[in-house]
Amino acid sequence: MTDKFESVCVLGLGYIGLPTAATLAAAGLAVKGVDIRTDVVDALNAGDAHFSEPDLELLVRGAVESGKLKAYTKPQPADAFIITVPTPMNGDKSPDMSFVDAAMRSLMPVLAPGNLVLLESTSPLGTTASIAGIVREERPDLVDGDALKISLAYCPERILPGQMVRELVENDRIVGGLMPEDAARARDLYKTFVHGEVHQTDAITAEMVKLIENAYRDVNIAFANEVAAIGETHGIDPWEAISLANRHPRVNILSPGPGVGGHCIAVDPWFLITQNPGLAGLMNAARSVNDGRPETIVGKIEAAAEAAGSKRIACLGLAYKPNVDDLRESPALEIVRELAQRGYDVSAVEPHVDALPSKLAEAGSVTLRSLDDAFGASDVVALLVAHTPFADVTAGMLGGKAVVDAVGLWRRQG
Ligand SMILES: NC(=O)c1ccc[n+]([C@@H]2O[C@H](COP(=O)([O-])OP(=O)(O)OC[C@H]3O[C@@H](n4cnc5c(N)ncnc54)[C@H](O)[C@@H]3O)[C@@H](O)[C@H]2O)c1
Repeated sequence: MTDKFESVCVLGLGYIGLPTAATLAAAGLAVKGVDIRTDVVDALNAGDAHFSEPDLELLVRGAVESGKLKAYTKPQPADAFIITVPTPMNGDKSPDMSFVDAAMRSLMPVLAPGNLVLLESTSPLGTTASIAGIVREERPDLVDGDALKISLAYCPERILPGQMVRELVENDRIVGGLMPEDAARARDLYKTFVHGEVHQTDAITAEMVKLIENAYRDVNIAFANEVAAIGETHGIDPWEAISLANRHPRVNILSPGPGVGGHCIAVDPWFLITQNPGLAGLMNAARSVNDGRPETIVGKIEAAAEAAGSKRIACLGLAYKPNVDDLRESPALEIVRELAQRGYDVSAVEPHVDALPSKLAEAGSVTLRSLDDAFGASDVVALLVAHTPFADVTAGMLGGKAVVDAVGLWRRQG
């Protein structure tokens, strides 16, 4: 028997919640999006996405115009609830669960027997069980001995920024129920729009799955960055060495870069590390390799600038990865800020933003420029993000300039 869900309330309309809400609406469900930010709610009710992501604007507009998607500042009654609020780190790198806690508490007044509550926010082990405690505490009428009269499941998200709209539908999903029937109900809801497989497990295993996916990526990127550091010290092109090593049928080394950024890979491993001191040494080492990488790249840029006898540097890319406008935890941003603090005159080129983020605007000596203007205003060019348009830069355009390619895109041109 499958559950029929007609309405869903999505709490948190950010990078994950907004595409999820719009996709559910496109699948025919009545979706109530909730955010504590009134600007986000107003933009959505006007049919606009408040961040840029391929195909999202069209999806959101269609969902709002069809009347299937409406936004609110407070949770609304629904058959199911999806929580997609932030889970940042505290100063000591432990997870800050205050947003999840607040979101869960905010839906207590509207929760009804038979509802399904899904947590999608990346969370430390045991979070789903612990938010069940909020229901026990605040809604004793929804408690039946050891059981709850609602279903609760953890359903991690793994969509790739830049391809979110497609991956939301095509990726396999993991749904972890607090009780086995909770996972089955979560599966029924995802099957309304997911074409990939939906795999059922228990809640804590699903929490673990999300964290080890990102820790795995972090450890493997750290390996590539360590290879780069060793290679560069010995005058070896790490990209060439890695590409040749990858000719081995069982070797697949990732590409080195300026560090690891974004909301996920640079953050989530800490959830396991801080929760399991003494058990996560490898993950801890990977974090420090990747966190140290921006400083190494700054050193390379400084050396190139000194050799060129110039303080004028063009930095290409501010986003944390290619072809997105997301600057969160971006190592490129950190590199540019550090160069500005050290007195360099930096021309930043970021085709995906219209204005510098306040962190850089305040630095004074950073100017957002077009690629051509930045080349005209610099003697050193540092490529920090492999945005597609930067692949068109020719050796002729770089002629006479010192080049630091932190992502290996121009290896043959520099
Ligand atoms: N962005 C990604 O690529 C990605 C991928 C996988 C998992 N995740 C995880 O998904 C979760 C959400 O990430 P995101 O990137 O969408 O974050 P985000 O910051 O883009 O969006 C979160 C939204 O939640 C809102 N919010 C905060 N508290 C709220 C509350 N109590 N009620 C309603 N709204 C509230 C915020 O105003 C914000 O608009 C995080 O745990 C993140 O780790 C993100």
